[in-house]
Amino acid sequence: MNRSAQRKNEHLSLFEKNYNLQQKNDFDEIRLVPDLIPELGLKDIKPKIKIFNREFPHSFFINAITGGTAKAKEINQQLATLAQKYDLAMAVGSQKIALKEKDTRDTFEIVRKINPHGFIIANLNANQDISQVKDAIAMIDANAIQLHLNSPQELINRDGDRNFLLSNNISKICEQISKPVIIKSVGFGISYDNVKRLQNLGVKYVDVSGKGGTNFIKIENQQNFSHNLDYLNDWGLSTVESLLINRKIPINLIASGGIRNPLDIIKSHALGAKMVGVSGTFLHPLIKKNPEKLDQLISEWIEEIPKIMLMLGKSSIDQLYKTQTILSVKISNFLNSWDKSF
Ligand SMILES: Cc1cc2nc3c(=O)[nH]c(=O)nc-3n(C[C@H](O)[C@H](O)[C@H](O)COP(=O)(O)O)c2cc1C
Repeated sequence: MNRSAQRKNEHLSLFEKNYNLQQKNDFDEIRLVPDLIPELGLKDIKPKIKIFNREFPHSFFINAITGGTAKAKEINQQLATLAQKYDLAMAVGSQKIALKEKDTRDTFEIVRKINPHGFIIANLNANQDISQVKDAIAMIDANAIQLHLNSPQELINRDGDRNFLLSNNISKICEQISKPVIIKSVGFGISYDNVKRLQNLGVKYVDVSGKGGTNFIKIENQQNFSHNLDYLNDWGLSTVESLLINRKIPINLIASGGIRNPLDIIKSHALGAKMVGVSGTFLHPLIKKNPEKLDQLISEWIEEIPKIMLMLGKSSIDQLYKTQTILSVKISNFLNSWDKSF
């Protein structure tokens, strides 16, 4: 196995080593104001969304995780089966490895094979050129593409990228690719300044993917034996912070990073997210070799989301954007100092 394939498998095992379902994050700093007189029944609640010119019955999706090795193929196969069963959008992990090593393409292609009519999202680094983007889309007949921004991860990785001249490339891709282009972080969140700049480059969809769940500084650091970079473990903005500072920008915000349960999904919508991505919480049962458990988890989430919406008196995801939220002192202070520093 070559080094890139080895790293893919190491990401999976180090993810699991660091995984902690009970992990507190900034979603715990947000409370929602309940409605005890909603004048609605459960059958009136419609948790569907319309995004990318398509309707989805559920507002959460399987975010980018993996591909490139036999183990990754098995995970993609299990995720695609559930994506098809529940009509969830699904992103594959970075396809960079398959652009170079053709014999790894099947580890991504399996996703389309299993789910021929599903909404599948390709994934590459934002510095790949237009022909590589076209190749990644064609490989899985993707309906959209995610381009990830992961400079902290690359810089910590001994063999990672060192150049991040991305703006021209992103703008060219948005101009020339007719499918939706989503720019995403990978667990570090994204600033207001960055989202404004992306908007000016023609980007219509941004996945804030913030701090609070999978931590790639920790994962890369544990692969890096020459330096101890633990002091960077808290790098970035949380998902909640990223949503709060960017929600007024007229762009489609997607939330991900630290989504542990249906309440985190509802809170993401209350903070302005159009759609919500989940990686770690869905990956964990698969690493534990228990796809039935993930099936059960997704079906429970589908049952519970409308109930929480009813507890808030909201019959649609659009209405959730208007949910009254109470921010903790910590988050209020963040917003206060952010307003002042800007
Ligand atoms: C094992 C693993 C591999 C990942 N690989 C990719 C990737 O190739 N491309 C990408 O854009 N994001 C990748 N991610 C990042 C996720 O899409 C997401 O942004 C991040 O994990 C935060 O979400 P979470 O807290 O729900 O895990 C990966 C996540 C995990 C857990």
